[in-house]
Amino acid sequence: MSAATLESFLAELDRLRADSEAAVAAARDAAAVEAARVEFAGAKSGRLKAIQKALGGLAAADKPAGGRHFNEAKAAVTELLAAAQARLAVAAAAGPPIDVTLPGSAVPLGHLHPITQTIRRVQEIMGRLGFESVDGPEVEDQWHNFEALAIPAEHPARDPLDNFYLAVARGADPLLLRSQTSTVQIRVMEARRPPLRIVSLGRVYRPDTADATHYPMFHQVEGLLVEPGTTMAHLKSVLRLFASSFLGGDVHVRFRPSFFPFTEPSVEVDMEWGGRWVEMGGAGMVDPAVLAAVGYDPAEVSGFAFGLGVERIAARRYGVADIRDFYRNDVRFLRQF
Ligand code: DAH
Repeated sequence: MSAATLESFLAELDRLRADSEAAVAAARDAAAVEAARVEFAGAKSGRLKAIQKALGGLAAADKPAGGRHFNEAKAAVTELLAAAQARLAVAAAAGPPIDVTLPGSAVPLGHLHPITQTIRRVQEIMGRLGFESVDGPEVEDQWHNFEALAIPAEHPARDPLDNFYLAVARGADPLLLRSQTSTVQIRVMEARRPPLRIVSLGRVYRPDTADATHYPMFHQVEGLLVEPGTTMAHLKSVLRLFASSFLGGDVHVRFRPSFFPFTEPSVEVDMEWGGRWVEMGGAGMVDPAVLAAVGYDPAEVSGFAFGLGVERIAARRYGVADIRDFYRNDVRFLRQF
């Protein structure tokens, strides 16, 4: 290019600009940008350097124009390379690019504990039979846990229930963790007048040694209906309708004579489902002494009550052999429900 004309000099500059733009546009990484820098702006043998030398071979009158164009081209190429380097630096700081075609990582979703599911299902079924769901406290006084339920201090029925007392100020009537949800019968009857249809589901506490069917904390369903003219036939129908809805299919309910201080007569409730009888809880007609204790007139109203074990009915429905599994917090077990 020693004897270049201005035209060929300018054409060479245009080519250099076009080539450098194409090279930078195609550069995908730092190495490619560096290769383009060496090719176009390299201090020793870059193409800009070669054109700069050709500037000296132009006619004197062409030199100012050639120099101006050369400076413009040099500035443009330098800027192009700097911008490409800056772009790569930003990308490097942002870490590896996101591959939007990779499968995402699944967010594990939990669900309600089987005991909670059972409680909700019982509330829903009993709600359809007109029973309102109510709550009662787990820390109780002795009136609601014992006396109002016709279990006075010296009564032998207290013995297996009389345990988890809380420390209280000297002289005060000690509170305890309730041993049965029958407490809620009293609380509701004290606060309302008949007719009444309620269920209450919650935790109870007993000094039981844990085994496949016992646990020191468990859950009960308490049911209470108080209306004029209530009989054991109503009790049995309600329990049978409940059991059929809960377990599915035809469930038989059997009463065996029993004793509870707060019902007269009292029965044990067994349910037959899939060819097996299982004891589910206790029931009976509300004892007139209990109705009187809450200010109802036993000559005017009668009622029935029942108490079922939530773990028992859940174990029966789900085919769980050991109720301790409900409390081990092993997600491999819980995930099944
Ligand atoms: N509270 C009794 C218990 O824990 C169960 C029970 C029996 C509840 C008879 C009742 C009932 O409402 O009528 O063993």
